[in-house]
Amino acid sequence: MTGSTRCLIAGNWKMNGTLQESLDFIRDLAVNPAPEHVEVALMPPFTLLHSLEKPFEEKDVRLGAQSMYCEARGAYTGSISPVMLRDAGCHYVILGHSERRDIQHESNTLIRKKMDAAWEHGLEPILCIGEHLQEREGGQTHSVLKEQLSVLEGLTGAPALTVAYEPVWAIGTGKTASVDQVKETHAFVHAELQRLGHDCRVLYGGSVNPGNAEELLACEGVDGALVGGASLKADSFMQIIEAANSAED
Ligand code: PGA
Repeated sequence: MTGSTRCLIAGNWKMNGTLQESLDFIRDLAVNPAPEHVEVALMPPFTLLHSLEKPFEEKDVRLGAQSMYCEARGAYTGSISPVMLRDAGCHYVILGHSERRDIQHESNTLIRKKMDAAWEHGLEPILCIGEHLQEREGGQTHSVLKEQLSVLEGLTGAPALTVAYEPVWAIGTGKTASVDQVKETHAFVHAELQRLGHDCRVLYGGSVNPGNAEELLACEGVDGALVGGASLKADSFMQIIEAANSAED
């Protein structure tokens, strides 16, 4: 684990969750007090942020958003700004998720603008990076990750940042990277971050579940997990949090 910060288990609900479902989830989530070595965060859809601020606070769960626009306010129909996310109690915002890069065609340029806006308004970005299967098979993993991390070039100071390495072929597929792939890639990402002047947590993401969490979280260089599908049910999410706690022991 890098630095002194606790490992982070963050749940990305994606486009899932009604108000009732989220209240049932939080009722069943027994993480108060949070395990000693683990920080817990959840990223529900925008529609639930305000309603979940208090219940999450009571459970010691940090609130985050799954995306945002790079402007504070104005004529941007359908967009949500960093000011709104802060107003709703968010600490984190996921940026550069592969589903945004691939489906919404978000570029590195836009991602960097969003990161700057997040920092300006006191949010901590969780920057997602990861290669497609073809890129891994073609031996391009390092160059793809390096290019995605280049959004961090030219930053002064060390703004609050978490990075999530999520091989795109492992997201929502039930396939996870092998322990060797995870160790090797996280070492590369940490080295690249160091070169860019950042010493931050690097989470692993991609089909993390209660069955594989302990093994993945015990890998050198893995400072937590970004969990999609398995964060939708309180019991599987709690099992991952407990696995993280024992991996850090
Ligand atoms: P998954 O999603 O755990 O469902 O694979 C992870 C993510 O996209 O952050």
